[in-house]
Amino acid sequence: MKVPESGMPEETYWESLFDLPLILDRLKIDCTIEHVAELGCGYGTFTLPVARRIRGTAFTFDIDRAMIARTIARAADAGVSNINAAQRDVLAAGFGLEPESCDAVLLFNILHFPQPEDLVRQAATLLRPGGRVLAIHWRADPATPRGPPLHLRPTPADAEIWAKAAGLTAAATVDLPPWHFGVALSK
Ligand SMILES: C[S@@+](CC[C@H](N)C(=O)[O-])C[C@H]1O[C@@H](n2cnc3c(N)ncnc32)[C@H](O)[C@@H]1O
Repeated sequence: MKVPESGMPEETYWESLFDLPLILDRLKIDCTIEHVAELGCGYGTFTLPVARRIRGTAFTFDIDRAMIARTIARAADAGVSNINAAQRDVLAAGFGLEPESCDAVLLFNILHFPQPEDLVRQAATLLRPGGRVLAIHWRADPATPRGPPLHLRPTPADAEIWAKAAGLTAAATVDLPPWHFGVALSK
């Protein structure tokens, strides 16, 4: 099932809405990380810069073939060779990766469907000890130029619910200006 309200606007516009280095810095995405799994690569907005920082492979999935094709093409153009992108309905079929094979699972701009605890639990099974589920989403308090309807958006308080459901520990919420917040849930 495609997550409702998860369609994308035009690529350049979408990518003008994020301070990518700030987001990756504040979420501590760096060369201490080996493998990463990502649900919903979209245009590869985060996939490429994440892949450049880590020392292993970025396994990324999207239900939309066009998004996978775009991400693969961008990676090839940029000479980024550590991205493994595959079309997959992750909500229906899971990630298809080995348990405890990743240091981070990225759930970016995707957790706006009812009761995402099952998905967070699945993500947690992929984590090695010390690994982290990293989620970012549109803030609900300022007026934002995009994002799903306010009543669908998760809030920072939901991180505690996700963490508890998955047996993870939530760190303090991270501010990701101008429009996002982030949470890290550790195993
Ligand atoms: C709002 S976009 C965010 C893309 C990317 N994470 C980002 O922040 O730039 C959500 C993406 O998730 C994909 N998606 C939605 N439901 C999915 C599912 N069930 N399995 C895999 N991908 C899905 C959509 O096709 C879309 O590309």
